[in-house]
Amino acid sequence: MGYFRENIEKAKGYEPGFQPKQADVLKLNTNENPYPPSPAVMKILAQISAEQLRRYPDPVGQEFRQAAAKVNGVSADCIMCCNGGDDLLGIAFRAFCDETRPVAYPAPTYSLYPVLAKLQNCKVIEIPFDNEFNLPAKLASTDAALTIVSNPNAPTGTFVSLEELASLADELSAVLLIDEAYVDFAEKNCTMLVKDLDNVIILRSMSKGYSLAGIRFGYAIAQPELISGLMKVKDSYNVDAVATAVATAAIKDQEYFKENVEKVKMERERLAAELRALKFEVPDSAANFVLAINKNCKANEIYDKLVKRNIYIRYFDLPGLEDKIRISVGTSEQNDTLLLALKEILSEEIASLRSQ
Ligand SMILES: Cc1ncc(COP(=O)(O)O)c(C=O)c1O
Repeated sequence: MGYFRENIEKAKGYEPGFQPKQADVLKLNTNENPYPPSPAVMKILAQISAEQLRRYPDPVGQEFRQAAAKVNGVSADCIMCCNGGDDLLGIAFRAFCDETRPVAYPAPTYSLYPVLAKLQNCKVIEIPFDNEFNLPAKLASTDAALTIVSNPNAPTGTFVSLEELASLADELSAVLLIDEAYVDFAEKNCTMLVKDLDNVIILRSMSKGYSLAGIRFGYAIAQPELISGLMKVKDSYNVDAVATAVATAAIKDQEYFKENVEKVKMERERLAAELRALKFEVPDSAANFVLAINKNCKANEIYDKLVKRNIYIRYFDLPGLEDKIRISVGTSEQNDTLLLALKEILSEEIASLRSQ
């Protein structure tokens, strides 16, 4: 017998996107924001005192809760701070799922969900999206204790309407977690649902819209009863003093945030249009990445050829995703470099087909 519980022994573990060490690569593989965080963040960081480091942090990050509550038009007791959105996902699996309490989600989606299910040893009810990535109706009639919908969805970038999510939450007798890690780049979000529905948890991340992937900060929005239940499950000091100060400065600077988000959205539309001109199929994206499908090329071959040019994108060796690549939206220069490389790769591909 091994040292680990059987399900841990058998688990593969999450495989994060590749983080290259060299600085001179074009990194469009893990959906970071291409622009730096707010100058207010850098100022706060420079002012961190030894005393802030010596003491334990505020266990609930009240300063951030108040700032996030103001931005979202809810009260501070509707907010729970997390060590990145992933921390909230771990907390939710521990709070709601076990051997007799399954999780359900539409697929394909964020590849961390099945990994957390394995750790928790809970059954997974995976319901496939249709070809247009519409929300599967069957999601409303499972016996799951936790249903998760990533909206915008990763890795497709597609968006489900608030009306559909409201009626799903209404039909479910258990918890619906709406993973809004990418919602800063969408036209709408689900905050309003929390006001009327006591079974909805919204996940937000400071990694994408606020350019803070390096500090690890995210938060939950839900009614106070759900928040206090989740608080019982979190680590006692799950957000540190530096991250809390930095995330608070970032969320308070809404002007800088909105400017950056607009730049990313504009580039996303241009990138999608240029990829379509290269004969990629690109579903409309509400996130800071696009999914590009090319039935004539294998995603892993495009990936390898881009790596040879020092360009990193993401592909997933998973059912239904073999012919798809996911590209994070970069600055316009970065996107131009990627598009030029893709043009070269596709014309090499055509030339080799002709010579066969
Ligand atoms: C769908 C989705 N949810 C949640 C997260 C968690 O983000 P973070 O832990 O960086 O806040 C990610 C990260 O890539 C994601 O893609």
